[in-house]
Formats: sequence, structure tokens, C-alpha cells
Amino acid sequence: MSQSTTKMKKNLKTIDLVLLGLGAVIGTGIFVITGTAANQHAGPGLVFSFMLAGFVIILIGLCFAEFASRFPLVGGPYAYILKVWGRRAAWLAGWFTIWEYLLAASSVASGWSGYMNGFLSGLGVGLPTALQASFNPENGTYIDIIAVSMTVLVTWLVSKEAKKAFRFNNFMFFLKFILIAMFIVIGAFYVEPQNWTPVMPFGFTGIASGAALVFFAFLGFDAISMTAEEVENPQKSLPRGIFFAIAISTVLYMLVTIVLTGVVPYTELGVKDPVAFALRYVNQDILAGVLSVGAILTLLTVLIAMLYGLGRLLYAMSKGGLLPGYLAEIDETTQSPKAATWTAGCIAAVFSGIIPLQSLAELTNLVTLVVMMMLAAGILTLRKKFDEPTEGQFKVPFVPLIPLLTIALSFYLVLQLSVTTWILFVFCLLIGIIVYYSYGRKVNHT
Ligand code: ALA
Repeated sequence: MSQSTTKMKKNLKTIDLVLLGLGAVIGTGIFVITGTAANQHAGPGLVFSFMLAGFVIILIGLCFAEFASRFPLVGGPYAYILKVWGRRAAWLAGWFTIWEYLLAASSVASGWSGYMNGFLSGLGVGLPTALQASFNPENGTYIDIIAVSMTVLVTWLVSKEAKKAFRFNNFMFFLKFILIAMFIVIGAFYVEPQNWTPVMPFGFTGIASGAALVFFAFLGFDAISMTAEEVENPQKSLPRGIFFAIAISTVLYMLVTIVLTGVVPYTELGVKDPVAFALRYVNQDILAGVLSVGAILTLLTVLIAMLYGLGRLLYAMSKGGLLPGYLAEIDETTQSPKAATWTAGCIAAVFSGIIPLQSLAELTNLVTLVVMMMLAAGILTLRKKFDEPTEGQFKVPFVPLIPLLTIALSFYLVLQLSVTTWILFVFCLLIGIIVYYSYGRKVNHT
């Protein structure tokens, strides 16, 4: 798993990583989940939820950056935990990271399809109900065919070659940025300050549960670490990419939330397309339409980054002997892990087709926070086992304070999630343990 053994092209720079990070991060969270979060959890105080979630993500990013800079290996948390705690813990970190990406990719495809189905129905060419949403015979829906098709299409794009997918990703990122900037600037003229009161209608509890929900909006920055084998100067570019992506997204989210809750009273924000809704609310229908189409286009970038990360994670775990060997094959023509990417894409397509968005998103947050707590604790072992980082490597400041604070705050956030989500989590854990003991453990580590 060292850099020298890679067959992948090393052609990515810091800017590619920042754009990949932002492409992966800004998506369903801000375009879709903000509405429910303000309406049912935090009210105008949602901006504090974003601050809290952003603060936790920055702490997590610090721990992530030290690992990424000291071990520029593909595979992210799996590869890092392997270094400090060995294969059993690494398997668990890898297993949960696989779920994180699978669930996040499926959530985004599912949210995307909601917009798309609405758009098609608006044009009078809506699909039959049975094909419009996840499996729910009571509502007459069986499979979300648009989510499935889109996931397969993106898998094809990502499997062709990383650089090609990135080019599309970079272009889409700029579109996404322009849309958000447009919303902030135009929306600011329609802000009615009385909409910001009461600031915390659900008290601090609402702010905390809102933070546990909008944490989803920050997921994806770690996709950056999956590129390690394809980066020209990983020691510098990985931590920088992570920081810029987190910092830029936090600022954008806070601005969008301040404007959104200033334009529309939070009591009316329980809609599926809150950002476009706010523009319609002030009779900017054309701009609202532009924003909706833009959101539909740009949610694709999140899907690209998630499937990219997932393919490379399966590749890395297979290379480490923890998953079937065929997943580590590098395609001769495209020099990318084609088999792993297609496997990831097909599973994500099935999930997005049959599981509802809400369940997908909540579980995504829980598995991710568990992996992040493992990483923060891993920093403590890392410092004992491998000493301090050397010159040129990234160093988490104030160890053990920062890792301990990361664990405490992440734990606080997971406690805010629902009992159903915890039950599903235990289920994932049990499947992981069964898979490990029936397969992963027997394979020789190379
Ligand atoms: N952060 C990503 C999103 O908001 C997963 O869609």
C-alpha cells in the first residue's frame, strides 16, 4: 500500500483536491436538508447548528489531515487505522467508511431524483408512480428508477478515468458556487429581520439536534484523502485540500442559512427545495427556476465524488487483503480501479432505488461520526507509536486536547440521533463482524 507500488497516474494538484472536496461536500445538505432542519429542529438558530457541526468537522479535519499527510495512502480511515491499531480495527473503520460512502451516494441520488421527478411532472412527462420513489407498496412506489439510472451513469463516468470525472466536477463546482452566491446576494435584499426572532424557538436542544442533522452537509471532505495515490505532492496537498474545502463550505453554509431564515419564516421552511422556495417566496420565480435546474445539475458532483471515493476505498481494502482480490485490479486503458468502481456503483444504485432518503441520511451521519471518533483516538496511538510528525508533515496542535475534544463533541452529536438509526447501526455492525469472521480474517495480509 505504499506510494511507490501504485500504478495509478499521479496528476492531481491542490486545486483539484479543493474542488473535489467542495464538489463532494456542497449538495443535498444545503439544498435539501436545511429546510427541514430549520423548520423542525433549530429555527433561525440553524446558523448556530452549522457553526457547531462545522466546528466538529474542523476538529475532525485536523486529525484527518495529520493522518493524510503522514501516510499519503489511498483508503482513508481504513489505511490510517491499519497503521495504528492493526487489521481488526482497520476492518471496522473501512467497513463503516464503505457504509458512509454507499449511504451518502444513495442519499444524494435519492434527493436528486426527488427534484428531477418534480421537474418532469411539471413538464407533464412524469414517470408512473411505481417508478418514482423507494420501495413503499402502501404509497404504490416500488423503485426509484431515476436514482438508479443516475447512479449507474455516474459510475460509468468515474470508471473512465479520474481526470475526466474531475473535469466535469470542476466545471459543475463553479456553477454550484455561482448559484449559491446568487442566492446570498439577491436573497439579502429581501431579508426581514423580524424573521430571525425568536432566534432559538426549540432551545439549545433544537440547535444540537439540528447540528446532528446538518452534519450531513459537511460529509465528503474526506473523499480528498482517497486520491492519495494520484496526487503529485500528497504531504502538502492533502491537508491543504481538506482545510480549504471545509473552510469555504462552512462560510457558504452560514451565509445561506442567515439569508434563508431571514427571507422565509422558519415555520414555512418544511419544503423539499428550501433555497428555490425562498426565491419563489419573494416572487423571483425565474431565478427560482434557474436555481432548481442548477441544483439538479450540481448534485451530480456530490455523486461523482462519493462514487470516486468508494471505488478507491474498495480497491485499497482489497489490496490490503480484506476484500476479494478482483477489486484491486487496475484497468490497463484507464489506469483506474474499474472493477471496484463498478461494484460500488451497482450497490449504491440498488440502495438509492429502494431505501427512503431520511433513513439513508441519518445512518450516514452515525457511521461517519463513529469512524471520526476512531480516527481522533487513533491520533493518540499514532503519536506514541510513530512519534511526532516530521518537518513538512501536518501536525495536530494541542494533543491530546484536540483529539479528546473531537471525540467528546462527536459523541454528543451521535447521542442526538434517533433510536431507529441506532438499531440500523447495530445491524450494520453485526453484518460487518460476520463478514470479517467469515472472510476478511482468513485472507493473508500483503
Ligand atoms: N455533504 C454532502 C451533501 O450535502 C453529502 O450532499
